[in-house]
Amino acid sequence: MKNILLPMLLIAALTISCTGRNDIIQENIRHAEAQLAYLIEASEAGDTLRIPSTYKHGEIEFVPTDDWVSGFFAGTLWYMYELTGKEYYAEQAQKHTEILHDIQYLKWHHDVGFMVYDSYGNGLRLKNIPGYDTVLVNTAKSLATRFRPAAGIIQSWNTHNPAQWQAHRGWKCPVIIDNMMNLELFFKVSEMTGDDTYRKIAMSHADKTLENHYRDDFSTYHVVDYDDETGEVRRKCTAQGIADESRWARGQAWSIYGFTVAYRFTGEERYIQRAKDIADYLLINEDNMPEDMIPLWDFDVVEFANNEEEMVKLFNDKDAMLPYTEIRDVSSASIIASALYELYWYTKTELYKEKADKMIESLSKAPYRAEVGTNGGFLFKHSVGSLPHSVLNIQAGRTKDHNIDVPLNYADYYFLEALLRKGRVEKGENPIK
Ligand code: GLY
Repeated sequence: MKNILLPMLLIAALTISCTGRNDIIQENIRHAEAQLAYLIEASEAGDTLRIPSTYKHGEIEFVPTDDWVSGFFAGTLWYMYELTGKEYYAEQAQKHTEILHDIQYLKWHHDVGFMVYDSYGNGLRLKNIPGYDTVLVNTAKSLATRFRPAAGIIQSWNTHNPAQWQAHRGWKCPVIIDNMMNLELFFKVSEMTGDDTYRKIAMSHADKTLENHYRDDFSTYHVVDYDDETGEVRRKCTAQGIADESRWARGQAWSIYGFTVAYRFTGEERYIQRAKDIADYLLINEDNMPEDMIPLWDFDVVEFANNEEEMVKLFNDKDAMLPYTEIRDVSSASIIASALYELYWYTKTELYKEKADKMIESLSKAPYRAEVGTNGGFLFKHSVGSLPHSVLNIQAGRTKDHNIDVPLNYADYYFLEALLRKGRVEKGENPIK
C-alpha cells in the first residue's frame, strides 16, 4: 500500500504545484483581457486612434507618437495575441503599430529602439507582416545617426535646444543606462540584413556602458556624460533618481535587461557575467528589495530624502522629497522579472526564477494589481515616471507632473512579457521566441 501511495501523493503534489503555476498565468490573462477592453475602447473613442500612457485624476492620458512610451500599447496588444491566440488582439495590435509608421525616421532622441521594436518588432516576429522588416531597418539607420565614434556610444539626448530641459544640465553628450534597451533593435537588424554595422555599434555601446556606467558594487549610474570629440567621460550623475549617487530603480532594471539581451545576440561571456553580477547584487543584498520584491522608485530614497544638504543643493528645499519615501515602482519590478526569466534560462540559477516568480506573485494582487473596471483599464497601479522632474515642476507652479505613483503602460507591457517567459521556462522552453 505504502509503495503505491507515495508515487500517487507525489503525482498529486506535482499536479497541484503545476496547476498553481498555470493558474497565476491564466488568471492574469483573464484580468488583462477584462482591463484592456476598457483601454482599447478608450483608444478608439477620439477622432483618431490614440495611445494610452497613464491614468490620473480620473482620466486616461494619451501620448503623441514621438513620445518614448508610444510603442508599449501596441506591444501589449501583441503580447495579448501571443498569450491568448485571439486574432482580435493581433488586429488591434496591427492598427496601433501602424500609427507609429513615421517613427522610423525620427532622429532627435534615442528611444526609437523601444518604440519600434515593441510594436513593429513584435508584429514582424508574430505575423511576419510585409514591410515591417523595412521599418526596423530604417529605424536602425535613424538611430545609427546618433552613434558618436570618438566616444563609442549612442547619444541618448540632445542638448542644444533651450526649450528642452536637457539643455540646462551642462551636458555635452549624455548617455543614459536606458539606452541599453535600444541594442535589441540593432542586433536584430544585423541578423536580418547580414550588415554587421549595427551589431558593431551595439557592441561598442555595450562595452562603453560596461566600462563607464557602473559602480564597484554593480549598481548603475543613470547618466554618463561624454565628450563626443575626445571620448572622455565628463560626469556621472542622474536625471530621474533622487541624487547622483543614488540607485534609481528603473535604471537598475534597464541595466540587467540590457546586458541579458546583449548576451542573447552575441554569446559574449562579459555580457552575461555583467547581467549575473547585477542580478546577484540586486537580489542577494536584502537592503535593495523589499520582501515583496517590488522596489522603491529609488533604492536610496529614504537616505537621500533625509539628507538636508543634498536636498537643498538639488531642490532648494530640505524637505522636497520627504513625501515620496514610500512610493514603489511597479514598472521596475515588471522589467526585472522579465529579464530574470531570460537570465535564468541561460544560467539555470534557481534564485533568478524564484525571485521573478515572487515579483509576479506580488504583482498579481493588491495593492499593485488594479480591480477590474478601475484604473482606466491599465493592469497595474503604483509606478513612477520621474519624481525629480515632478518635484521641480510642482515647485515652479506648473501643473504637469511626471507621473508619480500612477499606472504606466510600460509596467503592463513588461509584466505580460514576463508572464509569457514564465510560462515557457516552466515548460522547459526557451523564453525567447
Ligand atoms: N526611459 C525612460 C524611463 O525609464 O523613464
